[in-house]
Amino acid sequence: MDLVRTRAELREAAEGLRTAGHGVGLVPTMGALHAGHVSLVEAARRAGEAPLVTIFVNPLQFGDPGDLERYPRDEAADLEACEQAGVAVVFAPDVAEMYPSGSPETAVRPGPLADDLEGAARPGHFEGVATVVTKLFSLAGRCRAYFGEKDYQQLVLVRQVAADLDLPVTVVGCPVVREPDGLAVSSRNRLLRGDERRQALGLVHALSEGERLVLAGERSVEAVEAAMSEVLSHETPRPGYATARDPERLSHLDRIDGPVRLLVAAGVGRVRLIDNLAVCPP
Ligand code: PAJ
Repeated sequence: MDLVRTRAELREAAEGLRTAGHGVGLVPTMGALHAGHVSLVEAARRAGEAPLVTIFVNPLQFGDPGDLERYPRDEAADLEACEQAGVAVVFAPDVAEMYPSGSPETAVRPGPLADDLEGAARPGHFEGVATVVTKLFSLAGRCRAYFGEKDYQQLVLVRQVAADLDLPVTVVGCPVVREPDGLAVSSRNRLLRGDERRQALGLVHALSEGERLVLAGERSVEAVEAAMSEVLSHETPRPGYATARDPERLSHLDRIDGPVRLLVAAGVGRVRLIDNLAVCPP
């Protein structure tokens, strides 16, 4: 496994893989690697590609400096996990390497979906994501890039960025990896203390209730959203949104008469948790 630190080395490494006849499977991450990240590497390997993992805690996408500071970092463990997972190249730059002028003057501004849901709670977040992902796509060159459905809104937005800017990247979405009790694996889970771990399951319960209603034939978006909100309010300390959206664009639906994506968010302890689920009405 090669470890590279500079943008020039990343370009060279990706080009080298392609010259040697390998497809590049790009896996952008912020480190603190867990089973969710590893599943993306495995998806790239299953597709016969050389996995190229990037590890960079991107300051542009954090509004709250405390959140950025608390973000878990353990490079030695991350490199070990990459080695174990069969990663070909790791790109782990520092902030000055990614943003030599401090904060870049040019940013990628995604469409209105960037101000909805997670974007409404975290202003500027998706502009920071879109900007760093565009840089990574530009450096990696022609590749397939793997993103988790765990961050479903991010996946939809990144796909749109790649399409709108004609980047030579195919964005591939991968299923949410969950703990045995259903909680979506997240690096933020390790910040949950005591009872908070149980409260976090409120997100899963809200999604299950929404799914149950849709599968039972409920067609009203309002009814499904109200039922999910009710569960979130009972079980989580700081309930956020609970919504049923069009799975492609995350636009609002009038009625549920095809596949929907249920999405929920809640604050538990010091962290904000998100989750989502695909449901197909009978
Ligand atoms: P990070 O939170 O480290 O996540 C990196 C990738 O792992 C994302 O595509 C995310 O959706 C995926 N992932 C996280 N938990 C997952 C789970 N339980 N199951 C499946 N996939 C999971 O998302 C980011 O970093 C950043 O915003 C980034 C795209 C790297 C830009 O900075």
